[in-house]
Amino acid sequence: MKVVSLFSGAGGLDLGFKMAGHEIIWANDNFLDAVETYRKNLGDHIICEDIYKIDISQIPDCDIVIGGFPCQGFSIANMKRHADDSRNELYKMLIKVIVTKQPKFFVAENVKGILSLEHGEVIKMIMNDFNSIGYTSEYRVLNAANYGVPQLRNRVVIVGVRNDIDFKYQYPLPTHNANGDNGLKKWVSVREAMKDIPDPDQPNSLLNHTYSQFKLKFNGYLGNRTIDPDKPAPTVTARGDDKGGVVVLHHPNNRRRMTCRELATVQSFPLDYEFVGTRSSVYRQIGNAVPPLLGKAIAEQFNL
Ligand SMILES: C[S@@+](CC[C@H](N)C(=O)[O-])C[C@H]1O[C@@H](n2cnc3c(N)ncnc32)[C@H](O)[C@@H]1O
Repeated sequence: MKVVSLFSGAGGLDLGFKMAGHEIIWANDNFLDAVETYRKNLGDHIICEDIYKIDISQIPDCDIVIGGFPCQGFSIANMKRHADDSRNELYKMLIKVIVTKQPKFFVAENVKGILSLEHGEVIKMIMNDFNSIGYTSEYRVLNAANYGVPQLRNRVVIVGVRNDIDFKYQYPLPTHNANGDNGLKKWVSVREAMKDIPDPDQPNSLLNHTYSQFKLKFNGYLGNRTIDPDKPAPTVTARGDDKGGVVVLHHPNNRRRMTCRELATVQSFPLDYEFVGTRSSVYRQIGNAVPPLLGKAIAEQFNL
């Protein structure tokens, strides 16, 4: 099917849709490095522009609109005022594109934290909004590790089906679990995922295989704890550290941070997916991404 992608970033979700056999015909992000990464790997159908400046009527017709809208900006105060213009603007842009383009389906991805914002009122509002524009929508929390990604990463996946379309979206069934029982494969461990990755301090030809010199901390917080190589990694984030960079997971050897390549591998990007920008920018693009293998599992359910 033909896909329009908003907030596409470096293209994790889009790569998943492409792997599932769909065609991305138009994409948008305003983060230049991420757009360059996208172009290099997925094609030049991406526009680097602020979504507010896009003339929606110029977006081509499509079957699916996909996008992980940033969720900063929802607040109790805004909710109470019930004023449309006080809601999160980026989310409104996603709604506007869906209303204008009338795709058969949409997929909106977000962090699990969105479910607890305003004690659940925010997600209630979002689902009401999607249902009120003519789409039957539901959401599910999916853990990327259950789909072969070497990382425990929970994401909320909202899927909408236009009311006149006779189709019930089925969320993908897990292919992996913690123990590898009940007919499923065992979660992919960091060790297994990294088995073909050479030491970055030895001569090698891998792309983006350099690491942050930021000192290791062991305070138990995300990005500052030891990684068990025999398990999937904890969630890769794009969260800032106190030096203006990005919090990066430790390598299981406990001597350094992961290289960009290793972090991308933990996100299930293929080894030849090349990222553009400074190391900090690349870490951020990777941390922002939907793991392509999770995207693929979601997208395959649209192979009608
Ligand atoms: C969570 S990331 C999406 C990652 C992407 N789905 C992937 O899988 O790689 C959100 C993206 O929204 C983009 N964004 C934020 N504000 C924007 C705006 N005003 N116009 C266009 N893109 C915007 C950010 O640059 C970021 O890349």
